[in-house]
Amino acid sequence: MTRKRVAILISGRGSNMAALIEAAKAADYPAEIALVISNRPDAAGLARAQAEKIPTAVVDHKIYGKDREAFERALQDELEAHRIELVCLAGFMRLLSPWLVERWRGRMINIHPALLPAFKGLDTHRRALAAGANVHGATVHLVAPDVDSGPILLQEAVPIVAGETEETLAARVLEVEHRIYPQALKLLALGRVAADGSANKK
Ligand code: GRF
Repeated sequence: MTRKRVAILISGRGSNMAALIEAAKAADYPAEIALVISNRPDAAGLARAQAEKIPTAVVDHKIYGKDREAFERALQDELEAHRIELVCLAGFMRLLSPWLVERWRGRMINIHPALLPAFKGLDTHRRALAAGANVHGATVHLVAPDVDSGPILLQEAVPIVAGETEETLAARVLEVEHRIYPQALKLLALGRVAADGSANKK
């Protein structure tokens, strides 16, 4: 079995990254984590990746100022240098322009802590509670130029229970994230994902 070479892009603690690294340790997992890139030099996830002997790179957006294209070209250079085939965004807090997204269409996925298309953007747990929702959850989707849109691969609901707080909800959604992200990457690596979202249903 040839494993797909995967890069994970992070900005912070990297718990989803860690879940992907764990899953990829299985002998029959169709992807290997070949690179972790952070746009923040202080991201806690970097040390975690290094402890697993995974190559890491920092592409610090601050160095590029407002020149988004130069930042993204630097990302693309790293991805090419490591012969990356698939990209997972995992708490990566920079918006990507069509320039990069189009290059990776059908080969780049993201995890979002809500049941898309509900609650795109930030603060999803707080907003779901404020809206009085009965269910919340997590979604893995292919990345498209519009943020938190793009064909949905997997999602799983989390019921909102009495006495729920942002913290309790976030913790239960995170457990779901850690389960469905490795499953979605597996589908992508096996070529069972259609770039237009068709045939991505169970
Ligand atoms: C996760 O909730 C993810 O869904 C969101 O940002 C958070 C990142 O957490 N996009 P971690 O860095 O993977 O722990």
